[in-house]
Amino acid sequence: MPDPNPAALEFLLTRRSRPARTLSLPVPDRTALRPLLTAAARSPDHGKLVPWRFIVLERGALLRLADAVARLGPELGRTAEETAKARAQYGDAHLAVAVIEVRRPVRKVPAIEQTYSAGAVCLALLNAALAAGWGANWLTGWPVHERGFVTAELGLSEDERVAGLIHIGTETSAPPERPRPDIDAITSWISE
Ligand SMILES: Cc1cc2nc3c(=O)[nH]c(=O)nc-3n(C[C@H](O)[C@H](O)[C@H](O)COP(=O)(O)O)c2cc1C
Repeated sequence: MPDPNPAALEFLLTRRSRPARTLSLPVPDRTALRPLLTAAARSPDHGKLVPWRFIVLERGALLRLADAVARLGPELGRTAEETAKARAQYGDAHLAVAVIEVRRPVRKVPAIEQTYSAGAVCLALLNAALAAGWGANWLTGWPVHERGFVTAELGLSEDERVAGLIHIGTETSAPPERPRPDIDAITSWISE
């Protein structure tokens, strides 16, 4: 017989992100963040390759990244609006964890499966933060897809890329529920 965990299931059925722009102080300190990272690292990982790592971006680093985005946007032909939005993502934040996908050159495990694992780590970190009572949001934004930006500002190597920036902080307003998929519309059953 199954051994249910109703509280965990209820959390999964009702969880939702809190928009990063609504997150405020306080943010988890290093001690509080550690179990959240530990939970995230407990994610499915074909071949036990650990094809990911974390970069914790604290306030000083986020301000530096905001300045870099402000310089980079016009250089790359981004509009003033695109640049300002991306800059604010960093400049208004107090804590974000960059989940870095680290591509392992292993024939047995296709690259796409390493990417899926990195995505799973992002969701696990998001859910761990929410379960711990923090507000959290998985964002990316155009700067993290710029090789020059992630190399210069985050120190990534060629075989690394940003799977997500998990913003974590204190919720200031409850977000409205967003529409969720119709399960019947996306599910088919194959019986034979
Ligand atoms: C890979 C990935 C990247 C995302 N990047 C952004 C982003 O840059 N900006 C944004 O507004 N939302 C982004 N989102 C969506 C947010 O996470 C959004 O808040 C989420 O869809 C809320 O869903 P939830 O309530 O089910 O957690 C991204 C989602 C994923 C999976």
